[in-house]
Amino acid sequence: MPPHCNSWAKALKVGSVPATTSTLRSRIHAALNHTDGGSESQRWRSLHLVVLGAGLLAVALSSVDDLPQFAQRLIAFVIVLVAAVFLVEYGLRLWAAPESPRYADRTEGSARLRWALSPAGLIGLLAIMPAFAISVRAVAAESDLAALFCFLWILKLGVHAPAMGTLARVISNERATLASVLIIFIIVLVSAATATYFFERAQQPDAFGSLPAALWWAVVTLTTTGYGDVVPHTIAGKMVGSVVMVSGILVLALMTGILATGFSEEERRREYLRVWDQVVKVPMFAELGTVTLSEIVGKLRVRHYPPRFVVVRRDEPGDAMFFIAEGEVEVRLPREPVRLRQGGFFGEMALLDRLPRNATIVTTLPTTLLVLYASDFYEIAAHIPSLVAAVEKEARRRRLENLGGRGAVAKPE
Ligand code: CMP
Repeated sequence: MPPHCNSWAKALKVGSVPATTSTLRSRIHAALNHTDGGSESQRWRSLHLVVLGAGLLAVALSSVDDLPQFAQRLIAFVIVLVAAVFLVEYGLRLWAAPESPRYADRTEGSARLRWALSPAGLIGLLAIMPAFAISVRAVAAESDLAALFCFLWILKLGVHAPAMGTLARVISNERATLASVLIIFIIVLVSAATATYFFERAQQPDAFGSLPAALWWAVVTLTTTGYGDVVPHTIAGKMVGSVVMVSGILVLALMTGILATGFSEEERRREYLRVWDQVVKVPMFAELGTVTLSEIVGKLRVRHYPPRFVVVRRDEPGDAMFFIAEGEVEVRLPREPVRLRQGGFFGEMALLDRLPRNATIVTTLPTTLLVLYASDFYEIAAHIPSLVAAVEKEARRRRLENLGGRGAVAKPE
């Protein structure tokens, strides 16, 4: 089933709202929020980026003096157009907000209010401010205010950075560790500023005459920025400077390490949930116990493919096998093609026989596959023999079918 059909099906269950309205609304919500990963959302994403880029360029150019009249008019027109697109987007997002699973337990009005007050809603509102500013002819004459509002459009780039949410979660998860490093940072900073204040103030009263002035030097040195506008002259001051520089590198390395580890852990958790959602669609896995299932989920990767995508090519070496969570593929066998659907698998023969692929496999619909790499396959063979036995049984049947040339009958796996 194509991904957007899920939301259609959900939409059709809404009793009081006419089915067509709800279908359109869920499709718009999916496209605007990239939840379906389909072509509509890809198109919207590209259009949004182009509009945003054109808008920001126009605002930047509007600050240039002495532009010819026609260029000024063109810039004002582009700004109006971009603001109008964002106005329509805001209206659509507000209308489609009740489709968000986050507001599933709310009434339509309350869902819209919650969305309007969310960071995305507030950014959307700020982005349409230029439309109002323009309507009181701010762009042509008093362009500063309009330009200020227009630069809020840059916040809309956040829509294209799903990792922003991840970053916020990582910072929240690691707040205790980050706070400890920050405290170390402050201790080194204040100690270094105090020490240099004592050592340097007599020689350089302008640069180190007060603790705040010495703090400026400590910040510039500890963050390894090193403008070089103020430098210690005494031996003791230079020694403190050396310690601060080395500490700066250590503190930054610690921060980077904490954030990098947090990011990779968060990504692993998200991937785990993504895989879990897809694994339950494959009956072969659903039959396994929870413990065994959680073991295999950690080894599978989710991949989405468009129709007519060649997943496996005949005669190429095989490094993975695939389970179909959604969609359909065609196995191009010499005699007749065979179609495999949700719950089926392929690519196992190259791993079992350690031979090149014996057929080319192409998607016929938008397809979601769970990929199991060879190394993990062999590991699972040792841990979950029942699963591999089922795969081997089907591989034997396929081998016989190919040898006997009995034609193409898609058997349910
Ligand atoms: P592999 O040889 O790794 O790559 C091509 C795949 O096509 C193969 O593994 C099987 O998974 C699949 N395949 C080969 N023959 C058949 C068949 N008769 N029916 C269904 N799938 C097949």
